[in-house]
Amino acid sequence: MTATEARNLLTDNPALYAARFPDPDHTAGRFVDDILQAHLPSDATAFQRTSVLDLGCGTGRDLGYLADRGYRCHGIDQSEAMVHYAQQKYEGVTASVGDLRDFAVSERFDAVICLDSSLLYCHTDSELESCLRCARAHLRSGGLLVVEMRNGAFFLGNTELLDGPTHSCFSWHGSTWRAETTLRIDHAAQLLRRRRHWQIPDTTDELVQTSAWRLLFPLELTGHLQRAGFAVRAMFDSPGPRTDAGWPTRSAPGDFPDLGESPMSGDRMHVIAQAI
Ligand SMILES: C[S@@+](CC[C@H](N)C(=O)[O-])C[C@H]1O[C@@H](n2cnc3c(N)ncnc32)[C@H](O)[C@@H]1O
Repeated sequence: MTATEARNLLTDNPALYAARFPDPDHTAGRFVDDILQAHLPSDATAFQRTSVLDLGCGTGRDLGYLADRGYRCHGIDQSEAMVHYAQQKYEGVTASVGDLRDFAVSERFDAVICLDSSLLYCHTDSELESCLRCARAHLRSGGLLVVEMRNGAFFLGNTELLDGPTHSCFSWHGSTWRAETTLRIDHAAQLLRRRRHWQIPDTTDELVQTSAWRLLFPLELTGHLQRAGFAVRAMFDSPGPRTDAGWPTRSAPGDFPDLGESPMSGDRMHVIAQAI
């Protein structure tokens, strides 16, 4: 692979993405399944399979898990490579190219999910409002929006992710991929900006990629959700699929922190919102 071929390295190469972010225990899929089992009104899906729309579905891995558990699954992603991969790899998953900031899929779902900070690709308030309005329009009344992402409030008083470059490496098909990552806060734009410097294995090529995520605070997101037609049912920093302790292997409905119970100081934010 050359640097030119690798311009959007991970999203252009879904198999590489899957190797970089493995989830052998289906932590993210179990998280969604547990939440939907606990929070979806029981009459909602009495006579049909529960339907789920995944915004920024990536490789389709989480939908693949949910499809195996009987959910009817559709994903959208802006990457054609990801959409193709998800469709080919996971039976029972349909996927289409779309922009989560403004999308139309011709059906309503029981649940819309948006995981691993995909919501934070809405950089501006108007993009976020458009995304949430679209999500509401694709949910039946009483349906759930489940979002999991970085927590902007974590950066109030915590600099550990900003203190210097971090180095990572992983192996794929016998080659070692190395990257140096630097994060910084763009205060004016309220964005977390990332610069990642890759060394392409078996070549002298290097590749620098930049991306950015909106920094959203819990109460700020609550306000956006309410204005888009949602009621927030739960919001917590932990447990979650990408927290240090992970998502428990067995959870019961009572295991979710209630609204206002969580300190919201951790680096992840999990939100369960209901379409009203
Ligand atoms: C960090 S990955 C997360 C993938 C998946 N949700 C997961 O948890 O593994 C973010 C995904 O969002 C997609 N994405 C980024 N911006 C997007 C947009 N505006 N509309 C749709 N998808 C987008 C990327 O192509 C990528 O697949």
